[in-house]
Amino acid sequence: MSQRLARILDETRKYHQDAQDARSFVPGVTEIWPSGAVLDEEDRVALVEAALNMRIAAGTVSRRFERAFARRLGLRKAHLTNSGSSANLLALSALTSPQLGDRRLRPGDEVITVAAGFPTTVNPILQNGLVPVFVDVDLRTYNTTPERVAAAIGPRTRAVMMAHTLGNPYAAAEIAEIADEHGLLFVEDNCDAVDSTYDGRLTGTFGDLATVSFYPAHHLTMGEGGCVLTSNLALARIVESMRDWGRDCWCEPGESDTCRKRFGYRLGTLPAGYDHKYIFSHVGYNLKSTDLQAALGLSQLGKLDMFSAARRRNWRRLREGLDGVPWLVLPEATPRSDPSWFGFVLTVDPGAPFGQADLVDFLEARHIGTRRLFSGNLTRHPAYVGREHRVSGELANSDVITHHTFWVGVYPGLTDEMIDYIVASITEFVGTHR
Ligand SMILES: Cc1ncc(COP(=O)(O)O)c(C=O)c1O
Repeated sequence: MSQRLARILDETRKYHQDAQDARSFVPGVTEIWPSGAVLDEEDRVALVEAALNMRIAAGTVSRRFERAFARRLGLRKAHLTNSGSSANLLALSALTSPQLGDRRLRPGDEVITVAAGFPTTVNPILQNGLVPVFVDVDLRTYNTTPERVAAAIGPRTRAVMMAHTLGNPYAAAEIAEIADEHGLLFVEDNCDAVDSTYDGRLTGTFGDLATVSFYPAHHLTMGEGGCVLTSNLALARIVESMRDWGRDCWCEPGESDTCRKRFGYRLGTLPAGYDHKYIFSHVGYNLKSTDLQAALGLSQLGKLDMFSAARRRNWRRLREGLDGVPWLVLPEATPRSDPSWFGFVLTVDPGAPFGQADLVDFLEARHIGTRRLFSGNLTRHPAYVGREHRVSGELANSDVITHHTFWVGVYPGLTDEMIDYIVASITEFVGTHR
């Protein structure tokens, strides 16, 4: 490293220390965010170093992150994308590839999913001309069950795609088994659950494909970013092709002829020898991210264990603090799971002498940030009314969530004092509404 670079990075560390907010927590005044990035000195240094390297597109740092992240999750391949939503679009689109033969998803095929979640888990189903089949979730875990998934399977059902809700795993082993028995493809939206386990195994390792988000609210951040992971090398090739414009060639930008056949292919109805760099085997996208993002991701990845421990600790402190408070349905981890939580979700008992909105207003007035369980029942949103779908069973709990559920934060930036203030505020509010 040049002396000048060392000096700049040293100054960056000093800048970081100067930029720290030294103000202490003031209950009712300090903002308690429900989620956010936790960025330290090394993250700032990583970003500055990446900027000085001027690696402004995807390149070696992205590949390094992909290898490290795949290794961390125990999977063979990771492909970075520009968001978690793009990762979901890419994962499901990959399953429509003609290269999958009879297994490929075709327009009109059904994909089982849940109604109470994040919209971009469902959108790729519609965007690919497929039909979502909505199943309900349980209150307390906010996940669906293998029984509901099995009951939803019909003659056109070909896949399952759903998220581990707010970090809480669903029974992924059983759902993978059902998928296997019925020849269904299985995508785990792991955007909110990196480092969670089910049956001692990391979520994201049960399905054919898994997706991750690196938006600041998530377990690791790159600002914006996402990832598709798999151990299936044929699927990985399809994912890469569809992410990179649909091209058939796998050379990195700036590389040529790694296959030593650049001018030796005859594909489609193209003339023999057409430049492989410009042969397209999929109707693809460009969903790539940049090395600047990957540099931050690498720096964040080293802190994953610490982040997960903080998320678990904060969740437990809230759970213990609120135990026994009347009118609240408290969350529970799915049996045999160890969630790396995304949030602490609460449902106000529909029979309570106050409503969810009253409690949320009270907390927000104290600068305690709250969020909805994303869409609630997605089928009620204007974008989805009139769109082709099927509902298996009823969406009664999804409707309860729409009316009565919200969550507060557990992210690693929260202190014990903040958590205790959340507990005290909720307890105080409920105490005045007996
Ligand atoms: C379960 C789930 N899937 C997908 C996404 C989309 O991720 P992104 O915001 O990176 O597009 C989110 C966003 O929070 C999410 O919670």
